[in-house]
This record gives sequence, structure tokens and C-alpha cells, in this order.
Amino acid sequence: MSTLRIGIIGCGGIGRTHFHAWIAAGYTPVALCDTTPGAAAALVGDSGAHAYEDVTLLLAEAQLDIVSICTPPTTHCALTVQALDAKVHVLVEKPMAPTVAECNSMIAAAARAHRLLSVGFCHRFQPQIVALKQALSDGLIGTPMMFQNRFAGVMPDVHQRWFSDPALAGGGVIMDTCVHSVDMFRFFFGDVRRVQASATTRATDLGPALRVEDTAILTLTSLDGVLGVIEASWRSAPGVWAVTVFGTTGSLTMNYDTMQLVHQNADGVATTLPIPDVDRFSAELAHFASCVLGKAQLRVTGVDGRQATAILVAAMADAKST
Ligand SMILES: NC(=O)c1ccc[n+]([C@@H]2O[C@H](COP(=O)([O-])OP(=O)(O)OC[C@H]3O[C@@H](n4cnc5c(N)ncnc54)[C@H](O)[C@@H]3O)[C@@H](O)[C@H]2O)c1
Repeated sequence: MSTLRIGIIGCGGIGRTHFHAWIAAGYTPVALCDTTPGAAAALVGDSGAHAYEDVTLLLAEAQLDIVSICTPPTTHCALTVQALDAKVHVLVEKPMAPTVAECNSMIAAAARAHRLLSVGFCHRFQPQIVALKQALSDGLIGTPMMFQNRFAGVMPDVHQRWFSDPALAGGGVIMDTCVHSVDMFRFFFGDVRRVQASATTRATDLGPALRVEDTAILTLTSLDGVLGVIEASWRSAPGVWAVTVFGTTGSLTMNYDTMQLVHQNADGVATTLPIPDVDRFSAELAHFASCVLGKAQLRVTGVDGRQATAILVAAMADAKST
């Protein structure tokens, strides 16, 4: 029996994921909302949830404790502030918002309302990533020196979706995809003192050049000197989806194709670490519910969301300047 009243705003791809992840976490959402006619009703199924097409009505009627905000990025700030002002705890999908000023107003709204605000940095709930961070703290690979992450693939219809519309996305693949990579870098190594980026878009067999970048490489430097390389694309074959940290005495790789965490020692001997896989979204939502119930401290704060946005904004500016 659900002790918290959960709502979802935005019932597209990730809204559907949240719906099922909330159920897996033990909380069946009571209200779903999407401004596209029929979209919320289509997700309700036999859950018993109420479908809304108007956010104001949802917040007035549904008596929510928590809302997942699963809409395109440039809508995040206004919807988050509206929900917080209605005294609802908010988990907003990534990126928190496309500008630092918007992130600050979301943080201020949470403080004003005495409600929790978190951002959908789901990789912090992937057990292999949690184990990787623990292994770094335990000194398994000596002093961490370099971070490498590739999240790339082909989104064939991207030129027809909001992802390539700057008014809804607030950026391209840097804002959409590198946000996860940048947050993982901060999760492992803390804040960043330098970011550089190159980005491109061009006509391909998939379609015309986009109005936003579809392919990017970022380099990051942490405050204490760890270097990171991030590759992201919507129009390049995936290759290997992985995060690797190289240290002075070995490396750790989380391979998202096999979902395995592999340790390679200084002699090149590779060992797969036995980490049971779990669904990162239900782990993320279960954690947020625990925080709302006062049983845990937020693993992802509004400040984490804002810091990631600040890095992405700097990366986009650097990419445009060169
Ligand atoms: N954490 C992850 O791994 C992950 C994965 C995919 C998407 N996302 C993020 O989730 C968000 C949504 O992405 P998506 O892929 O689900 O998009 P989507 O286009 O599939 O769904 C978005 C839905 O929001 C609805 N919507 C738009 N404006 C609204 C408003 N003001 N009020 C209510 N509903 C509104 C649309 O009608 C649509 O149904 C984005 O911020 C995206 O970056 C996160």
C-alpha cells in the first residue's frame, strides 16, 4: 500500500519509465499529467491513476506528496517552481534546466517551500557506478588520473523531435547527453575547474544538419587535476558504451553493453567484479521516497543539477567560440 501520493508530469518516453519504476519501487502513481491530449490517459492502464491534461488542475486536486517532472528541458524550471509552490516534493528529469539562473530559482523555490528537490541523475543509482566510486575511495587503482566516457548512438528521427529544437531542448547533445557524463565525473571527482568542448552537426544520410550540435567531445579537469574525456553523439554508431577510470595502478570500466564492472590491474589482468544489477530508475525513485519520508539524505541535490548545467553552458560556449 503506497504511503506517498505520487504524480508524473510528462507521459512520454521517460515518463513511462518513471511510471513503471515507481510501481517497482512500491509506489503506484495516483495521477498522471500530459498536455498532449490522451497521452496521460494512455499510460494509466489498470493502475487506477487519474489522468490530467492541465498541470494547475493536477496540483490543485491530486494532493501529491511527490511529482516526477518528465517534460522537455526548457519547461523544467516553471513546472518545478509551480509544483514546489504547491508544496510538492520534486524529482525533475535531467538536465535540471538549461541555464544556471533557472536552476537557482528552482533551488530557491525548494528552500522557500521547505520541500525536497532532486534531479534525475540516474547513473548515481547504477550499482556498478556506485561500486566504481567505492573502489576509487578504497584505492583499488591507486590515484585516479583519467576518466573516459562514451554515450553515443543513432537517433534516426532526431531532426523531427524536440531534442533538436533549441526552444524546447535548450541545447543539443551536450545539454541532453553529456549531462549524465558530467554528473558522473562530478560524482567521482567533485567540481571542475576547466572545461573545453568541440561540437558539430552536419547533413548525413540520417537527415539535414540540426539547429543544435549532434556530436561533441568535452574535456574536463577536476579541481585536483583528474582529466576527463567525454564523447557523445546522436548520429554516430555506438561503439562501446562505457565509463573507464584509469589510475596509477589499474583501471575500472563499467561497460553498459554487458552491464559489468571490470577491474584491470597493473599487470593487465582483468577481473569482473560481482555486482548484482538493478534497475537504476527504481533505485533512484525508491531513494527519493526514502528522503521524503526522512529516512535518507538526498544523493542528488539541486546544487548538483546546477553545477552540471554550469559545466554544460561553459562547454557549449567554448564549442561555439572555436
Ligand atoms: N534520465 C534519463 O536517462 C533520461 C532519458 C530520456 C529522457 N530524459 C529526460 O526526460 C525529459 C523528457 O524526455 P522524453 O524523452 O520523455 O520526451 P518525450 O517527448 O518522449 O516526452 C515528453 C512529454 O512531455 C509532455 N509535455 C511537454 N510539455 C509539457 C507540459 N508543460 N506539461 C505537461 N506535459 C508536457 C509532452 O506532451 C510529451 O508527452 C527530458 O528532460 C529528457 O532529457 C532523461
